[in-house]
Amino acid sequence: MKGLISLSGMSRNEIDALLDEGDRYADALMRSEPFDRVLTGTVVTNAFFEASTRTRLSFQRAAMALGADILSLDPEVSATQKGESLRDSLLTLTALGTEILIIRHAEDDAPLLAAEWTGLPVINAGAGRSEHPTQTLLDALTIRRHFGHVEGLEIGIVGDIANSRVAAGLITTLPELGARLRLIGPEEFLPVAGDQRLSVDLDEHLSELDIVYLLRVQHERGAVLPPDYVERFGMGASRARMLKETAVVMHPGPLNRGVEITDDVADGPRSLILSQVRHGVPMRMAVLAATGGSLP
Ligand code: NCD
Repeated sequence: MKGLISLSGMSRNEIDALLDEGDRYADALMRSEPFDRVLTGTVVTNAFFEASTRTRLSFQRAAMALGADILSLDPEVSATQKGESLRDSLLTLTALGTEILIIRHAEDDAPLLAAEWTGLPVINAGAGRSEHPTQTLLDALTIRRHFGHVEGLEIGIVGDIANSRVAAGLITTLPELGARLRLIGPEEFLPVAGDQRLSVDLDEHLSELDIVYLLRVQHERGAVLPPDYVERFGMGASRARMLKETAVVMHPGPLNRGVEITDDVADGPRSLILSQVRHGVPMRMAVLAATGGSLP
């Protein structure tokens, strides 16, 4: 696999094969079993031009677990502050020996441009509003390991869907894996096109959902929190009581506690939120290993 910029061109078989590998690494990590350090000596570079905790650190941990040497560009304290262009920064990272480039950026097309400019395998760690493929995969892996399957599940994605790259990735891939989606949020946060079921009334759906996938309102992309948001869409104890006994709550993080989710739900028995974080490491190991396998 020559990097991972988007899941949208991938077949269900290809996605399942990556998830199988993620599953294998997850088992190995959990049981402290050894695995091949297939990236030994490979230089993997994290270039995050937007804030990140989970994604950046789990890529770092995944690369280290596979034996890679990891470089990190921190735009806050790098030549970006002196006006260096994205292209020049990325060519610099290439000249420093980068063999796999992991990039997060506010622009939708940054990963594609990075691949064009550098010729390197590029892994998209979140680009603008467009996609966040390893988040999609780790979510699918978390769902698969919890329910045993993705096929047939009713999943409600709730919140600022229009501005969320996480939602964009889930909307493309989860139906491909056989799940049924409902997109729920205030009118201004719903996508304008697509064939998914749209709704502005969360309560109407609660008793039918297997998964409530909550999103953060993306203030950095110009979204404004509607004044009645918490009342209409906040997931608290009373809404959690309306869910099926087996239903779970997911969120990609970071959480805005008290807005889209309350403390008792985030930290409660239905929450898969930290399980999502944990699955980020084996899933990114699978993506890095598949990418490393195609290096000359
Ligand atoms: C998300 C992102 O940056 O797209 N976070 C993440 O990677 N887990 C979601 C968000 O910031 O709301």
